[in-house]
Amino acid sequence: MKKLYGIGTGPGDPELLTVKAVRLIESADVIFAPNNKGRNMALDSAQPYIKKQKVVLLDFPMGKTTRQTYIEAMDQIDENIKDGQTGVFLTIGDSMIYSTFMNMINAEVHDHIEVECIPGIPAFLAGANSILKNVVEKGERFLLVDDAEKMNLTDVDSVAILKTSKNLEATLDKLEAHQFKYYYIKHVSFDQELVLTKRQDILKEKAYMSLLLARKSKI
Ligand SMILES: C[S@@+](CC[C@H](N)C(=O)[O-])C[C@H]1O[C@@H](n2cnc3c(N)ncnc32)[C@H](O)[C@@H]1O
Repeated sequence: MKKLYGIGTGPGDPELLTVKAVRLIESADVIFAPNNKGRNMALDSAQPYIKKQKVVLLDFPMGKTTRQTYIEAMDQIDENIKDGQTGVFLTIGDSMIYSTFMNMINAEVHDHIEVECIPGIPAFLAGANSILKNVVEKGERFLLVDDAEKMNLTDVDSVAILKTSKNLEATLDKLEAHQFKYYYIKHVSFDQELVLTKRQDILKEKAYMSLLLARKSKI
């Protein structure tokens, strides 16, 4: 039997991994992460805990992944973990939120690989903590989206929008039309974290690692 842990590494700060995530990364035989031109943010945040473990970067070409891509990645994982060994697959934030890891797990099941997931701090929660604003209060409704174009703000009090670089101007228009006030947060938990609230400043930004937190009245 082989064991694979999906590990949420949190928003980027290496101090924001759970104790359990650190223990499993330190004791793993192989560490997997999506390849992003030879780098990966989850891998960077786990770097202090990586010593002799083998590191394997897996290719998931952005916008071009198919079920076959995920199956091939799972086959590579299978090849790299020997019987009785443990692998960890690192995901930024939490593995249950818009993650390549779960796309892969849902595409292919290997009966001889036992899979378990360890939660991580999602970027939008780290961002809310950073600006000291509730995501929800008692009785409120919250929406999480990664595609603001399809977002429906009817009956929503609070929203977190990921992948903001897509149609940022139209997103702000929509938030304003529904009387939402917003915070744009870039590089949450990094030294260069930036919080913006003015529309004209936000529209100059293009960072992939950014999110919007917005709510109807109280923000
Ligand atoms: C594919 S989603 C991954 C979400 C992740 N699994 C989570 O739980 O936060 C990628 C998006 O997460 C957001 N994100 C992740 N880390 C971030 C950070 N440190 N600062 C700002 N946004 C971040 C950005 O909106 C980015 O476009």
